Amino acid sequence: MVQGFVDVHSHVVPSGDDGAATVEEGIELCRIAFEAGTRILFATPHAHAAWDQFPRTAERRDLYEQAFPRVRDAVAAWGLDLRRGWEVYPSLVADGEDPRGYVLEGTRAVLVEFPGWWLDVDGAVGLVADAARNVERAGLVPILAHPERCPAVVADPESVRALAEAGWPLCLNGPSLTGDHGTSAERTAWRLLEDGVVSMVASDAHGFARPPRVDAAFAAVSATIGSDAALPLFDGSAIPWGR
Ligand SMILES: [Fe+2]
Repeated sequence: MVQGFVDVHSHVVPSGDDGAATVEEGIELCRIAFEAGTRILFATPHAHAAWDQFPRTAERRDLYEQAFPRVRDAVAAWGLDLRRGWEVYPSLVADGEDPRGYVLEGTRAVLVEFPGWWLDVDGAVGLVADAARNVERAGLVPILAHPERCPAVVADPESVRALAEAGWPLCLNGPSLTGDHGTSAERTAWRLLEDGVVSMVASDAHGFARPPRVDAAFAAVSATIGSDAALPLFDGSAIPWGR
């Protein structure tokens, strides 16, 4: 395992979503990650549903494909390993689109997001479960992003236990643990940790106001459960590497 943090969720490479706007900004964000102890960082632009803000259009893919190598090569010089990925809205893969096009580089995993409070979605947990099942059918592992930002999970944290028990890693946002996503996300994130259903923590960075660092969350979790128990949530231990 690498020495340092592995962050599977960030918007640090320009793709026309609400993350980094330029290559220069992306490189500066990566510097923040590196200085905060991250050694492998996945750049995961939004792949939203067609009805939402940031669907994965050909134009956005091109933007990302042009920007990615420029950011990757710049940050590789310091020893930061930047990898490709996407953050996939569950209906895309629940509806049968091939999940293999969204794989996190160098892994057998796909990052699938829980619908957040900003979307009004009925049956959110069931939708995520459908997506996860389809990802698994394709021989891949779904990593399930920010359950604690989903109103259905806030209302009923027990509802995700079956997903975790199916072997699907749940991934909290670090800022939820430090109170930066509001009190209900904070309360739910800590509750899920206590319940033992969390496998990892990522930044979900979007810019300088939401930077790609997980060190503060690591300190907070370490202070609560000890650093030996905290580290596997942050060092990539739960990622299905390979491919
Ligand atoms: Fe995200």
